[in-house]
Amino acid sequence: MKLWPPKTAELTYVELKPARFNMTRLSVNINKVALLRNARGGNLPDLVQVAKDCEAFGAEGITVHPRPDERHVRYADVPLLKTVVTTEFNIEGKPDPKFIQLVLDNRPDQVTLVPDSPGQLTSDHGWDTVKNEAFLKKVIARFQAAGIRVSIFVDAEAQQVEGAKKVGADRIEFYTGPFAHDFPANPEKAVEPYHRCAQLANELGIGINAGHDLNLDNLRFFKNSIPGLLEVSIGHALISDALYFGLQNTIQLYLRQLK
Ligand code: PXP
Repeated sequence: MKLWPPKTAELTYVELKPARFNMTRLSVNINKVALLRNARGGNLPDLVQVAKDCEAFGAEGITVHPRPDERHVRYADVPLLKTVVTTEFNIEGKPDPKFIQLVLDNRPDQVTLVPDSPGQLTSDHGWDTVKNEAFLKKVIARFQAAGIRVSIFVDAEAQQVEGAKKVGADRIEFYTGPFAHDFPANPEKAVEPYHRCAQLANELGIGINAGHDLNLDNLRFFKNSIPGLLEVSIGHALISDALYFGLQNTIQLYLRQLK
């Protein structure tokens, strides 16, 4: 019997009906693969092939974060990836006019909105959902009208979770940088605000994703502390680990932390 590739239907994600109890999907952020490719100007490594292979190795989603300077994933990569990703395609980015058009043209399963400034090294804070209420409401409604699920990147603060609900986001993505930073010294203390905000999000009926600086050391603890964690998107640590363990083993190691 041919085991690979699986039929598309077997990989199709059915929202709110997880295949396994308490499922948290692993979405692999492939920005760092694009960074390596861009270093030489050619097509090695081949980003599209890597996305396909990540899925073959067990990834339950592919995330890209095209930034205005295109130093990682380029805007032109997105339509190519859209044609091959069969799990869940998640595009992250700051919703400027070019990004909005890119997302509407390519209709990923999910768009994750981040409040990056131009030239930012990496996302390091969530939205101020109160200050940006009118803007977020408008842009979220536009994506949802196109059938795209919308997640917004937020810090673990009750006011921001309530604000995310108010602007109509389907999900929040917790910015887990502060958790990862504080985790080695005191895991319980580090996760406490996320746990509290997750309970609030569950009460409000808003889905929960998480990302930034999650790794093989802190992922299981985070997942076990967050009720209803639907998805994590992981890039930097996972691609770094793959240098030692290989991509296939590394993806399996991360999946193991989530089960
Ligand atoms: N979520 C968002 C919004 C991000 O900007 C990033 C980094 O591109 C990630 C998740 C993944 O973070 P990391 O690369 O540290 O795993």
